[in-house]
Amino acid sequence: MYTMNPTKPVILTGVRANNDIHIGNYFGAILPIVDMAKRRSTDFDINLFIPDLHSFTTPIDHSKLYDSILNNARIYTAAGLPLDNAAIHLYRQSRVPAHSELAWILDCFTGFGEMSRMTQFKDKSDKLHGDQISVGLFNYPVLMAADILLYNATYVPVGDDQTQHLEFTRDIAERMNRKFGELFTVPKPVAEQHQFFGKDQGLRIKDLANPTKKMSKSDDTGKGVIFLGDNPRVAHKKIMSATTDSLGKVQYDRENQPGISNLLEILTLVRQDAGRDVTLEQTISEFTGMERYGDFKRIVADETAEFLTNFQARLAAVDEPAIEAKLQSSEQAMNLVANQTLHRVQKAVGLRR
Ligand code: ADP
Ligand code: TRP
Repeated sequence: MYTMNPTKPVILTGVRANNDIHIGNYFGAILPIVDMAKRRSTDFDINLFIPDLHSFTTPIDHSKLYDSILNNARIYTAAGLPLDNAAIHLYRQSRVPAHSELAWILDCFTGFGEMSRMTQFKDKSDKLHGDQISVGLFNYPVLMAADILLYNATYVPVGDDQTQHLEFTRDIAERMNRKFGELFTVPKPVAEQHQFFGKDQGLRIKDLANPTKKMSKSDDTGKGVIFLGDNPRVAHKKIMSATTDSLGKVQYDRENQPGISNLLEILTLVRQDAGRDVTLEQTISEFTGMERYGDFKRIVADETAEFLTNFQARLAAVDEPAIEAKLQSSEQAMNLVANQTLHRVQKAVGLRR
């Protein structure tokens, strides 16, 4: 059985469980992670886990959770994550109990005031009321710190909304190390992480109906959002009715023609996904000056519908038993690594000799 190589550094990230993944998530987060995993797995252990314990920090439909956890693993697989690479670990947080146990210990070394300053808690709790605002939502970052510290991860690629949590992880690791000696590997500072991953902050697919806003699953109408599960014909219609402008000429100008610019980006991405070796610049020069927006939109709509058809076929064809086997073998290996760290911590705080 494979266990982690203690001399190999670790890249770790949590890939959230939900069923309504849109093309912004796919091109902005999922594909880059799959790409990173493939490129870096010779020099690093790559830990990709599904933070399923985090998924009910805000209210959800629990009858759908189990399937959405598996669906996440399926989506990564359909996006090209290799399951036969022994340096890539794919596992569920809830199947490695050390996450919860370490989180409890870290909770007791975390200040109430410190947690109260987390902006994601403020943003999310503003949208909830009364008992919906759970203690779990409040100490979400502590569990996240445990996720990272258990595996001695040095690099943790996350979106901007998570950098405060990463800073907290570094803080709590340093605090514990000062108090108890070298317990944890402290992840690299955020600036160094950005350098390492060559952070591309450029990609932000915009909402089709309101192209000054980013495409987001929290859009209530869904009209401007293309979900990976959308019927291709429905997605086609969404693109045909995308908001454009009255300038009447295709140009890449994010300021004055955000709708058209967004469609040029989407077209480039779906073409790349189809294996075509094209850049945004090439797409721009192909279409600049075109005057009939309807014709332009039809091309984007056709190729996006084709992308969805292909993706959905890949998703339907994933090897379910191989995914299940991958999860189980990773979880077995991860329990060994995580328990080593947990024991070290239990010893340090006086729970073990
Ligand atoms: P949402 O706004 O749909 O809730 P999340 O905030 O859950 O999306 O983001 C999940 C991941 O997807 C993050 O890494 C984020 O950077 C990426 N992402 C979300 N929306 C977009 C978008 N419109 N374009 C590119 N990447 C996006
Ligand atoms: N909080 C992350 C998000 O919302 C998911 C996550 C949980 C995570 N634990 C993590 C990411 C540990 C990186 C490392 O996207």
